[in-house]
Amino acid sequence: MTANPSLRSDSRRIFSTEDAMRLAQRRQPQLVHDFIEGAAGREVASLRNQTRFDAITLQPRVMADVAERSLKTTLLGQDYDLPFGIAPMGMCNLAWPGADQAFAAAAQGYNIPVCLSTAASSSIEEMRGWADENAWFQLYVGGPIEQALDLVQRAQHAGYKNLILTVDVPQVSRRVRDLRNGFQVPFRIGVKQFLDFATHPQWALTTLLKGAPEPKNFKVEGGGSKFDRGASRAGADWAFLDRLREIWKGNLILKGVSSTEDAQRIQRAGADAIYVSNHGGRQLDSAPAAIDALPKIREAVGPDYPLIFDSGVRNGEDIIKALALGADFVMLGRPFLHAVGAEGARGVNALIRILAEDASLALAQTGLNDVRTVSPQILVAGQQPVVQESLPHDATK
Ligand SMILES: Cc1cc2nc3c(=O)[nH]c(=O)nc-3n(C[C@H](O)[C@H](O)[C@H](O)COP(=O)(O)O)c2cc1C
Repeated sequence: MTANPSLRSDSRRIFSTEDAMRLAQRRQPQLVHDFIEGAAGREVASLRNQTRFDAITLQPRVMADVAERSLKTTLLGQDYDLPFGIAPMGMCNLAWPGADQAFAAAAQGYNIPVCLSTAASSSIEEMRGWADENAWFQLYVGGPIEQALDLVQRAQHAGYKNLILTVDVPQVSRRVRDLRNGFQVPFRIGVKQFLDFATHPQWALTTLLKGAPEPKNFKVEGGGSKFDRGASRAGADWAFLDRLREIWKGNLILKGVSSTEDAQRIQRAGADAIYVSNHGGRQLDSAPAAIDALPKIREAVGPDYPLIFDSGVRNGEDIIKALALGADFVMLGRPFLHAVGAEGARGVNALIRILAEDASLALAQTGLNDVRTVSPQILVAGQQPVVQESLPHDATK
């Protein structure tokens, strides 16, 4: 399937990211679903990420020879079979026990990247062992700088080639759903949380059996953790970037960029790629949709500078739209957690197949047979994505 996305999927229930979310929500405690799906403030930015995608239209083209199509691409010197991958996310094993391993196996099997978060529930060394060269490492600079540099050294030592420095979390934002649910890591189990777990027994028992997830890279010998989720992560400043650029010999990617000025300065500082993202709307509720920032950043950094994109991608057509608007590669966050929450490894495989098939069909409809030839020309000429931005409801309820 990797080279030639098949129409088959082993899942009989997941045919879209929406299916995965619905099925996952049934199995997961509300507190877990809300941690994954939630966003900053009133969740306007999260919604906007998706509605702006919906407003972009692709121009169908007819009678091209598109019987054979390829989704293979190259990024930062590495070949991938598909133009998308798994975004870095903290505590993935909360979505379903063993999520990290399922992601790693899928990344290997489909030859796509999987990004391990600083706040992951698996260690740097474990992920590299499972996913080999398909594993990337994502760094937060929270707490003492030495702690972050120690993680970088571990990543280097483990053989990672790609390091993502996430810079859009100077401080973790207020996420109303988490506050309402009393979400904390490690869990604080009061009556409300107990009832939530008790009414989702499959998740609760499996999690109990495998052990509650914890930030594995911060384990202290003899018990406890050095990870402070609420600590400022503003240590990732311009001076740190210079320092990191000297230390890190592999590819350095800056994630969470949406300003053209920042993008140009990062490019001048010697980063190998920029990862355009608004963190899936989880940081600044008034942030522009990431897809609106993308073409401006493409223009600012020039045609050849590598750009990765995430935030709001929900299907294969969105992937093609992001590529048309200037991305070289696309990542997805929540859909992968929903897929693993819905059906474990089978759900992850189903999602990848669906996205690949969908992207491949979008190529056919726009008259292309190679994803590397996607350009702004496939967008409907002169379109200005304009959408209604008022919320139909209070998304945080
Ligand atoms: C549950 C969850 C945890 C996340 N944790 C991290 C993280 O540890 N590091 C990071 O750089 N981004 C993190 N992100 C942001 C994702 O990498 C990505 O930018 C975002 O999910 C993309 O938006 P999407 O969910 O609409 O695809 C997290 C996102 C979610 C949903």
